[in-house]
Amino acid sequence: MAHLNSNYLKLQSGYLFPEIGRRVSEYANTHPGTDIIRMGIGDVTRPLAPSVIKAFHEGVEEMADVRTFRGYGPEQGYEFLRELISKNEYETRNVHVDLDEIFISDGSKCDTGNIQEIFGTDNRIAIPDPVYPVYVDSTVMAGRTGYIQENGYFEGIKYLPCTESGGFIPEIPDEKADIIYLCFPNNPTGTVATRSQLKRWVDYALERKSIILFDAAYEAFITEMDIPHSIYEIEGARNVAIEFRSFSKKAGFTGTRCAFTVIPKELKAFNDRGEPLALHPLWYRRHTTKFNGVSYPVQKAAAAVYSEKGKKEVQQVIDYYMENAAILRENLLETGYKVYGGINAPYVWFKAGDHIKSWDLFDKLLHEANVVGTPGSGFGPSGEGFFRFSAFADRDHVIEAMKRIRKVKI
Ligand code: MLT
Repeated sequence: MAHLNSNYLKLQSGYLFPEIGRRVSEYANTHPGTDIIRMGIGDVTRPLAPSVIKAFHEGVEEMADVRTFRGYGPEQGYEFLRELISKNEYETRNVHVDLDEIFISDGSKCDTGNIQEIFGTDNRIAIPDPVYPVYVDSTVMAGRTGYIQENGYFEGIKYLPCTESGGFIPEIPDEKADIIYLCFPNNPTGTVATRSQLKRWVDYALERKSIILFDAAYEAFITEMDIPHSIYEIEGARNVAIEFRSFSKKAGFTGTRCAFTVIPKELKAFNDRGEPLALHPLWYRRHTTKFNGVSYPVQKAAAAVYSEKGKKEVQQVIDYYMENAAILRENLLETGYKVYGGINAPYVWFKAGDHIKSWDLFDKLLHEANVVGTPGSGFGPSGEGFFRFSAFADRDHVIEAMKRIRKVKI
């Protein structure tokens, strides 16, 4: 008799974004012809940059010629791409990352969930609330939790509430947390961590011998000068942190798939005898066993992001999305909402008032304005009452959505 993984049964409903998709389709089916504007899931809408597309085509052509054809690539990713990442993402910030510390993958979503495999199930995991739902859901699937409680929290997870009064920054817990997920710029609140805030987390991890899983998928959207883009800009972080980065939002690769994870060689966790052992060989083992690498044309396309022309083109698209974020912020503020984010992140996080819940606002905006956003409570109980708009949208849609929303009475 085959047994299923009963941890999956603990999950409350479908994953957030398919659930939004389901509700939107239901509405669209019963209201045919309605012009629905989608600013829910953070999915890019602008095409890949010309330099990226050119390199992508060249990569495909190479695969069509027996002299340049390539079969399996290195599981960890081609060196040409890892070299460019090390130089452009890290050396420019005075951070040294060895090429073999970089693992190219098909997405940070997968990596931030899969990374749990190299950690024992007895670790106490701390997760901000609200945050990207993959961290909690993967923790539940891995059997690291009990059941969900009335307050919406799973037993066994140390939640780190990020509240409006606390500026949406998670507080350092008094108690032990062995593994801590941090996401900056934050999805969904758009908050960033300052150097001193990150330093406090690094110091905590050094003292408690914890590991920080640092999701920096949105670092390219930081506009303020002093905000760190990488956790490795903080002294000591190489001993306590794994960093996740992605080409998805930075360069429009959500459909193309390319990301990378950095595991410094000095990063250690403890075996059953309490001896410290490096984590790098474990992830290397996992990656080479369960993954065969990102396709050559995609890695070639990702490398073009770092060409002089590619950098400019990619930056123009980032600026376009951030102008959308500014339009969203301005309009929502003028409409009387409390607005956060949108300055160092492509997400605008807002509150309509204390009297309306996130999913009720979702329904109201869908029905009365035909505009889709993401309910804050979908990112965790502390997101209740809030709502997120993604700036990854076409300009005319953003402007039209804001016109419609101004007319909705909340
Ligand atoms: C989001 O909308 O929160 C993200 O785009 C989803 C993702 O990146 O997987």
